[in-house]
Amino acid sequence: MAKKIGILTGGGDAPGLNAVIRAVTWFGIDKGYEIVGFERGWAGLLDKTYRILSKEETADIHRLGGTILFSSRTNVAKVENGFERAKQNLADLDIHCLVALGGEDTLGVAKQLYDAGGRVVGAPKTIDNDVNATDYTFGFDTAINRVMEALDRLHTTAKAHQRIIVVEIMGRHAGWMALHGGIAGGAHYICIPEQEFDIDEIARVCKARYERGEKYAIIAVAEGATDPKLRKQVQHSQQTDAFGHVQLGTGRGIGEVVAEELEERTGIETRHVVPAHLQRGGDPTAFDRVLGTRLGVKVIDLIDNEDFGKMAALRSGEIIGVPLADAVGSLKTVPIERYEVAKKFFH
Ligand code: F6P
Repeated sequence: MAKKIGILTGGGDAPGLNAVIRAVTWFGIDKGYEIVGFERGWAGLLDKTYRILSKEETADIHRLGGTILFSSRTNVAKVENGFERAKQNLADLDIHCLVALGGEDTLGVAKQLYDAGGRVVGAPKTIDNDVNATDYTFGFDTAINRVMEALDRLHTTAKAHQRIIVVEIMGRHAGWMALHGGIAGGAHYICIPEQEFDIDEIARVCKARYERGEKYAIIAVAEGATDPKLRKQVQHSQQTDAFGHVQLGTGRGIGEVVAEELEERTGIETRHVVPAHLQRGGDPTAFDRVLGTRLGVKVIDLIDNEDFGKMAALRSGEIIGVPLADAVGSLKTVPIERYEVAKKFFH
C-alpha cells in the first residue's frame, strides 16, 4: 500500500500555494506516495475533512492564486486536546508525514506538532515575507508587484489632481511589502512598523515637493506603522484571530489617519487608498510559481530522506532544508540599514 502524505495550507492565502501543492502531488505520486489534501488548514486535520489529490486535478493549478485546499486561521494550540487530536487523526488516516504550508503561525503549529512526536515538514508562505530562515517566502513577489502597479497608477491620478495620496499596505509586524513595493513604485515616503515615523516630517517632504513645483505625492504606509502622536486615532476592530493578531485593515486604519493629518498640516487635498486583499488575490508571478514548485520538490525530498521537522527554504538561490525551529519564534523584520537605503530616495 502506498505511503500517505498529508498536505494543508494555513493562514492568509498567498499566490504560489497551488504551485507547491502541484509539485508535492506530482513528485510525491511519482515516488509512490498517495497525497491527502486536508481542507481549511489545521481545521481539516482536526475534523478529518480531506480529499485525495491527483495529477489530473493539480495539473494546471500553479497558474492560479488562492489555494485549492482552502485556508483558515485555526490554531491547534487553542483547541482542547488539539495536538492529541491531530496526532490521533494522522494515525487513524495512516499519514506517513504531514506537509504544512504557511507563515509563522502555521509553521509554529507544525513545529509544536513535530515536538509532540508528529512527522511534519513545511514550506514558508506569506505575502508579508516575515518568516525567518528563508530569503523570501512565496507570495511576496506577487504582492509587491501588485503594490507597485497600484502605485504606478496612483502617480498619474495624483499628479493630474495635484493631490497627496496615502496608500495603506499590508504588513502588520513587518514592513517588507511597504518597503519593496514602495521603492519599486516610487513612493515619496515610506512608513514601516519597525520604525516609528513622524507625521510632521512627512508633511515637510510633501510641502517641499509642492514648493519645488512637483505638485503631488505618494506616501506608502504599512498597516502596522505608527506615529506615537497618531496612535490613538487608529481604531482597528478589537477582534483578534486564533493566533492573537488584531485585525488590521478593518475600521479606521493608519492610512486614513495619515491622510487626514497631512491634509490638515499641508492644506493640500489628500486621499487615502487601502488596496487590502487586492494585494493577495489573483495569479502568482513567474517567480512565485517557480519558487513554489522548487519548494514542493524539496518537500518530497525531505520526506523521502525522513528528514522531518524541517522546512524547505530559499537560501542564496538554492533550496535547502532548515529546521522548523529556526523559522519560528520570531519574525523576520526589516533591518534598519535596508530602511536607510529607501530613505535616501524620500523626496
Ligand atoms: O498575513 C498575511 C496578511 O495578508 C497580512 O498582511 C494582513 O494583515 C492579514 O493577512 C490580513 O488578514 P485577513 O485576511 O484575515 O484579513
